[in-house]
Amino acid sequence: MQNWQSVNSTRQGELLEAAADPIEVFRADWRTYQTVIRENYMFHREISGAIGRMLRQLPGTLSVLDLGCGDACQISEMLDPGQIAEYCGCDLSAQALEAAQHHLAPLGNRARLLCRDMLTVLREAPGEQYDMVYSSYALHHLPREEKQEFFIECRRTLRQDGVLVIADIMRDEGQSVPEYYDRYIEKMDAEWTVLSGIERVSIQEHIRSCDFSEPPSRLQSMAEQAGLLNPVRLEKRTWHQAWCYRP
Ligand SMILES: C[S@@+](CC[C@H](N)C(=O)[O-])C[C@H]1O[C@@H](n2cnc3c(N)ncnc32)[C@H](O)[C@@H]1O
Repeated sequence: MQNWQSVNSTRQGELLEAAADPIEVFRADWRTYQTVIRENYMFHREISGAIGRMLRQLPGTLSVLDLGCGDACQISEMLDPGQIAEYCGCDLSAQALEAAQHHLAPLGNRARLLCRDMLTVLREAPGEQYDMVYSSYALHHLPREEKQEFFIECRRTLRQDGVLVIADIMRDEGQSVPEYYDRYIEKMDAEWTVLSGIERVSIQEHIRSCDFSEPPSRLQSMAEQAGLLNPVRLEKRTWHQAWCYRP
């Protein structure tokens, strides 16, 4: 059913050479993250519920780009297959994409999965192609300069009446990065108890080396610079938030 494209070898090479590979935790073993979703530690249930309610109000069928789609489990629950005209999801984890194939099966050949870097996919996307660009818990992996480019490219590929939906981990306003790391990890140690000690430590290392979360106001100003205005917060559970922006 879905078309596959090979991993962008240059980008993958760069990532593998990097001292801290931002997606190692997802590449090595997708099952740990599936446990996080199942236990609702990152509030996927509430976040997807809020986004789903907003999406059901949109008219017609949607052309969707999902950046850092993971196993596409949330989007397949948020949207009725009949509401999707075309779905393109990208992720660097081949394991996650294998699971995504299963979740997107009802879409048949309307779904396309790319094992590629999301910024590269965005740069190559045609202008004004999508009704919705969606990214859930992936944006914080990009360094700040790339986040600005991410918003600019999202604006370019969105239709005039389209919507950008971002779910992500966002620091509290005024909260320093080290303080945010400490609080998040403290909470994880207390509450993410179904994970093994090794799983928790690997996620904590991932957070400290690869989690560049921003406060909502900074993302808003990046969106605004890209011409995406009217930010609306759809959900907030601790640091887990969902926002939508429109041209
Ligand atoms: C926390 S998971 C989120 C998955 C899914 N969107 C969700 O909400 O459950 C982050 C995902 O982003 C992917 N990712 C991180 N950086 C990426 C990049 N530069 N390009 C594509 N995917 C990326 C990871 O492989 C991982 O699957």
